[in-house]
Amino acid sequence: MTFVVTDNCIKCKYTDCVEVCPVDCFYEGPNFLVIHPDECIDCALCEPECPAVAIFSEDEVPDDMQEFIQLNVELAEIWPNITEKKDALPDAEKHDRVLNKDVQSKIMYIER
Ligand code: SF4
Ligand code: F3S
Repeated sequence: MTFVVTDNCIKCKYTDCVEVCPVDCFYEGPNFLVIHPDECIDCALCEPECPAVAIFSEDEVPDDMQEFIQLNVELAEIWPNITEKKDALPDAEKHDRVLNKDVQSKIMYIER
């Protein structure tokens, strides 16, 4: 079992999650983070730390965000590791809880 970063991290990227992960299994893209499913030890520490409620256990990912399970698998292989908290993205509060940002995330992914 792994935890999964979902839609609401996009354009927010608060990074509070990174600070508590004991195995440093977060990876950073231009507009959101993902969790490497093979490295996550299922400790659940990160889930309550996310101000945007973007992290779910794999078996609790909402139906309309199921595609993020595979996105975390794919992007964790190509994005760099992040181990320290940094400033959230500009306008993070404006984008917090604004869902269905996944199309933009894919555009960013392709551009890389
Ligand atoms: Fe890291 Fe634990 Fe969150 Fe997995 S559940 S990403 S190991 S903090
Ligand atoms: Fe994203 Fe939440 Fe972490 S917004 S960077 S999953 S604290």
